[in-house]
Amino acid sequence: MFPLRRNRRLRTNESIRSLVRETNLSPQDFMFPMFIAEGKGIKTEIPSMPGIYRQSIDGTVKEVKELWNLGVKAVNLYVKVSENLKDNTGKEAWNKDGLMQQSIKAIKDAVPEMIVMPDVALDPYSIYGHDGIIENGQIINDATVDALTQMSISHAEAGADFVAPSDMMDGRILAIRNGLEENGFHNVGIMSYSAKYASAFYGPFRDALDSAPKESTEAIPKNKKTYQMDYANRIEAIKEAIDDVDEGADIVMVKPGMAYLDIVREVKDNVDVPVAVYHVSGEYAMIKAAAEKGWLDHDKIVLEQLFCIKRAGASIISTYFAKEAAKLLQ
Ligand code: PBG
Repeated sequence: MFPLRRNRRLRTNESIRSLVRETNLSPQDFMFPMFIAEGKGIKTEIPSMPGIYRQSIDGTVKEVKELWNLGVKAVNLYVKVSENLKDNTGKEAWNKDGLMQQSIKAIKDAVPEMIVMPDVALDPYSIYGHDGIIENGQIINDATVDALTQMSISHAEAGADFVAPSDMMDGRILAIRNGLEENGFHNVGIMSYSAKYASAFYGPFRDALDSAPKESTEAIPKNKKTYQMDYANRIEAIKEAIDDVDEGADIVMVKPGMAYLDIVREVKDNVDVPVAVYHVSGEYAMIKAAAEKGWLDHDKIVLEQLFCIKRAGASIISTYFAKEAAKLLQ
């Protein structure tokens, strides 16, 4: 008898396809990254990210309510502070009345069940646009880790559920975990950006926060390659993720998404904590641009990509499409 197996039988119609589907996608798989601005009533669209805005706290809170009603249960927060608050120490990052701290409080007051995960890195506060403190032209690790620990504690004091270090300094997860424990924040979690690559896909994000490494006459690096990973590497990603779990990370993240799904799968197979994937700004921009030209079917591409990220091993996807995808899935 030929053929022995007819694999197409399980693809005959949508009912059987949905019955045997191996991956499911729902709004609670998503986190939504939000850009927060100083002031009131501010809502500025990011030119390279149509549909995504930098908003003051009032508008941010409104959008958080909308997300909650769509079934999205977590937000990642990024702030844009004014130039006069920036320096080389990043000390505004742990100002207890700073923009991030106020945002965390406002969101938790309005939607207490929303999981709030502020970004922990110095770049929005750095005159150099780097994720760390600079000395003699180098991004210095250990002093930066101390700063990130203070920053994390201040986020916890403001009410954050998780802190999300995106800086790629060595040893920061252990230091932050210790800092949180010593201050009684036993239940504040850490989502570590463990395998974060030095990627050109972050371009639109840096436009949004005006946080790109600055051109300057001083001898400082113009890119983040001394701390973010080389995209040619995979073993290193596994090492980073395992180290972070050993140091106390509750969730590890791979970033960017679609070009890095091999890494997602390998990390997934090597750790026993949930894996998050950041579907980053450049990936969003590419889809929006192609759809605007009529070259791709926007909605279909969005769902296909998010499904594929999930299939690769992501438990959680941080994506600028969270709202649109949640609506498409309803
Ligand atoms: C900075 C940070 C970046 C992103 C998240 N946190 C940019 C960078 O490392 O330069 C990028 C996210 C995106 O592109 O959507 N700590």
